[in-house]
Amino acid sequence: MDLSTFPYLQNNYAPVDSEQDWSSADLRVEGEIPQALVGAFMRNGANVAYQPNHYVYPLDGDGMIHGVYFKDGKVEYKNRWVDTHHLQTERKHDRMIYGSVGKLLPVPEEIIAAGGAPHPVRNTANTNVLQHGGKLMALWEGGFPHELNNDLSTVGLFDYDGMLRPGDALTAHPKVCPDTGDLISCTQRLDSPIYLVQIIGKDGKHKKTIPYEFERRGIIHDLQITENYVIIFYAPAFHSIEKALRGENPFEWEPEKGTQIVVIPRDGGSEPDIYETDAFFSWHFCNGFERDGQIILDYVWINSIPFTQAQGTGVEKQPRRMYRMTLDEATKTVVSNEQFSDVFCEFSRIDERRMGKDYRFGFAASSNHDWEGIHGYNCTGRFDFKTGETTLCDYGFDANAGEPVYVANPESDREEDGWVMCYVYNPGEGQFLSIVSAGDFAAGPIARVYVPTRIPNGFHANWMQDLTL
Ligand SMILES: [Fe+2]
Repeated sequence: MDLSTFPYLQNNYAPVDSEQDWSSADLRVEGEIPQALVGAFMRNGANVAYQPNHYVYPLDGDGMIHGVYFKDGKVEYKNRWVDTHHLQTERKHDRMIYGSVGKLLPVPEEIIAAGGAPHPVRNTANTNVLQHGGKLMALWEGGFPHELNNDLSTVGLFDYDGMLRPGDALTAHPKVCPDTGDLISCTQRLDSPIYLVQIIGKDGKHKKTIPYEFERRGIIHDLQITENYVIIFYAPAFHSIEKALRGENPFEWEPEKGTQIVVIPRDGGSEPDIYETDAFFSWHFCNGFERDGQIILDYVWINSIPFTQAQGTGVEKQPRRMYRMTLDEATKTVVSNEQFSDVFCEFSRIDERRMGKDYRFGFAASSNHDWEGIHGYNCTGRFDFKTGETTLCDYGFDANAGEPVYVANPESDREEDGWVMCYVYNPGEGQFLSIVSAGDFAAGPIARVYVPTRIPNGFHANWMQDLTL
């Protein structure tokens, strides 16, 4: 592949070309792996399999999952592409067939006639990987999820027993309610402005749908739950499928419209409340909760949608910071929306036992220096909402650190007693999975699991408690 013209396929954004299985004998461990860890750390991300026609941002790459499995203090590693119909079609013809989100290509009739995936938008299955309702799934916000086996082989598309109809797109950012075990998710459609909150029980069965109709379909990536609400940011960011099909820039940013905060009752019993504020964009919430008639939202703020159709415009150099927003439920107003920390960050996560509840720590991939060209993250940040402090675990100037995942210590309810894991690639040091004590962040990793092959920068990760091979 010639990747030279694609800024987001350089350095540690470049794909790997093979699937690997590394046993514990192949994985060098520095430090001590906590014996209580039983499960798997898995991360999804873009890994193009064939020469792309256009690649603005990693949202266009084929999904590949990298997993490190823990049992009895031992570790194993696997990486696998998600075996989607689109990727199967390209493999069958041994070439790129499907275009990018920003520049779609018509699918040749002979490809469809030969059983190829007919839809021009590739189901990349590249955004998240999640265990819920007894299933392991690769998620992508433009379509159906793919069910996976524990060994990362692909079972196929999953429709939640008919909940998803053709054309439905399930979010890659559902939240699990720590009290009920419900998965709070949503579906949207390219051809409709209707947003459907979907509540799925801990048994994986669909329980309830709550509809909300926007005037116009927006780019809505994440959602947040609190005790009583599902909350989304409706930024003035839109994607025009008509423009994409004409080869024009399909991404639209209309800041004069401002950003709405849509607060939807989780019981579906009354209309949502809408809070208005100045325009901003956000990919990710950190957490949210209710307190004394207010709703507190912590999230990563960006000044506008971070890309256009042009190559290299997916620039993460654009300012992004941890913010705290406070909403007043009585007056339906935004009381404040303030920067919490001046550290550049993205991919914010928490101790998921505190999802929707008051909490102390947020964690995010972070940077402590300016980057040339394409941006990256060389640290993991810990944002302490009790003290106001931000602490960085610094992996070195050239390191690439991925989304951090909080892994609860099964023997403790304290946030301080868990661990924070992320993949780190440092050109001089190699590839490793970092394990940091959540309560002693500045001390650096307590263990590093070195993987002989590189893991490209990617998107979202999760800890799969008790999932083993
Ligand atoms: Fe995301």
